[in-house]
Amino acid sequence: MNTASSRLLDAARSARLNAYAPFSKFLVGAALETANGTIFTGCNVENASFGLTVCAERVAVLKAVSEGHRHFVQIAVVADTETPTPPCGACRQMLWEFGGDLEIVLGNLHSETARHRLNELLPHPFDGRSIEAKNNETFRAV
Ligand code: THU
Repeated sequence: MNTASSRLLDAARSARLNAYAPFSKFLVGAALETANGTIFTGCNVENASFGLTVCAERVAVLKAVSEGHRHFVQIAVVADTETPTPPCGACRQMLWEFGGDLEIVLGNLHSETARHRLNELLPHPFDGRSIEAKNNETFRAV
């Protein structure tokens, strides 16, 4: 594990302490590193209307993008589990918008547990290229 990843895992561990998870009691922290080295953190924020819950990863993405950052190199995700806790499908899709090369570092309270590239976790993605392809077909047809 390199220094950048261990710093990012520590930031995700700290963010996890802010998780609002009274329903699942499953606290998650995330830390997203931008191309210029800025770190945006997130934690899961649950809601009594369960479907409104937002995962830690998406909180970090929304914070970063809303502050003008769109180029990301790594995201660390931390949960208190012995086995890795990978991002859910919705988070993979949301992260994909900003690039498939993103390094995803998973960890628990003590150590790194796994590491993946986003393009391994989300094969055959839907993205702007699908919309573009459709627009081109429509353009040719008229
Ligand atoms: N959760 C995350 O925040 N990130 C993940 O990668 C997996 C799941 C949250 C959502 C919910 O608050 C709780 O964990 C249980 O699913």
